[in-house]
Amino acid sequence: GVIRCAGDTIVIGLAADSGCGKSTFMRRLTSVFGGAAEPPKGGNPDSNTLISDTTTVICLDDYHSLDRTGRKVEGVTALDPRANNFDLMYEQVKALKDGTAVQKPIYNHVSGLLDPPELIKPPKILVIEGLHPMYDERVRDLLDFSIYLDISDDVKFAWKIQRDMAERGHSLESIKASIEARKPDFDAYIDPQKQYADAVIEVLPTQLIPDDNEGKVLRVKLIMKEGVKYFSPVYLFDEGSTISWIPCGRKLTCSYPGIKFAYGPDSYYDNEVSVLEMDGQFDRLDELIYVESHLSNISTKFYGEITQQMLKHADFPGSNNGTGLFQTIVGLKIRDLFEQITASRASAPLEATKA
Ligand code: ADP
Ligand code: G6P
Repeated sequence: GVIRCAGDTIVIGLAADSGCGKSTFMRRLTSVFGGAAEPPKGGNPDSNTLISDTTTVICLDDYHSLDRTGRKVEGVTALDPRANNFDLMYEQVKALKDGTAVQKPIYNHVSGLLDPPELIKPPKILVIEGLHPMYDERVRDLLDFSIYLDISDDVKFAWKIQRDMAERGHSLESIKASIEARKPDFDAYIDPQKQYADAVIEVLPTQLIPDDNEGKVLRVKLIMKEGVKYFSPVYLFDEGSTISWIPCGRKLTCSYPGIKFAYGPDSYYDNEVSVLEMDGQFDRLDELIYVESHLSNISTKFYGEITQQMLKHADFPGSNNGTGLFQTIVGLKIRDLFEQITASRASAPLEATKA
């Protein structure tokens, strides 16, 4: 058998509101790590967990302390910390990080009830995704890397309409009402977590079409914190410079409204950051190689790996724009971080046993 050392598991936090692309991001991430993650075999069919060879993704909704009825009775939303058990979340993430399996509860999204727990073994990479991965300071301190998906209200609205109206038969008014009802708690408990994120993917309406309100063409920013150990931000052309780039022309086919990249240093909350921005969308995904070849520090293992990943998952939402591109890049950066941490442990075995 394999002897596990304490602290083998690296922990990644992914925060976002529900319906904001977390599952899509997870599929891109686990694909970069080399294998699709699937629900645990033979367990509760309503489990929210995904497992691959390297990675286990747990959904933080499983730490709801109040079920759907409980929330109704108490008059709190799922976003409210009072509906969530942060003590248990901390204990279990800590145990997994230290190499110990846990019996994690399951929040059943179909019934709205808490189901009997499932056994989670410590993986190489543990991803905790949901509404509050960076809310509790103790849990936050366990994260080796954190990401926040920041979807602007206009875009969130467009995505919700697409899904809830088309697929679930909700009315425009009821979608508006449900977003409005969540907003105060979202602003109080979810949104502030972005200040702690090592990387933020911000999704905004395009600036290429005047007064656009369709939400189809997107302007996406990848905000990367400076000075994070094992994470060196991606850059365009010249690290630290401020760049604006319209790649359309001889090498890249662009139809209206075109594509525009921007790159440069900035500050975000109290942190120094590098920001890479893409507005617009690709007409031909294979031509992404032209853009990829102009980016540096992308942590690919071979020329064209980003383009290959994007082509492989061309059917995922956001594959023709900055959301898919930046999710893929963050996946590569996390793989790199994992490999660096693993290598540093292998070269310092004495300290690992002392700890
Ligand atoms: P979550 O796991 O956070 O609930 P999903 O990844 O399941 O979110 O995405 C929810 C819905 O939002 C998708 O079905 C799709 O309609 C829309 N969506 C997500 N990401 C994108 C994207 N990058 N571009 C366009 N639509 C998206
Ligand atoms: C959020 C949470 C879910 C919850 C949903 C609806 O999206 O992530 O866990 O089920 O809100 O909450 P409700 O109280 O209406 O069941």
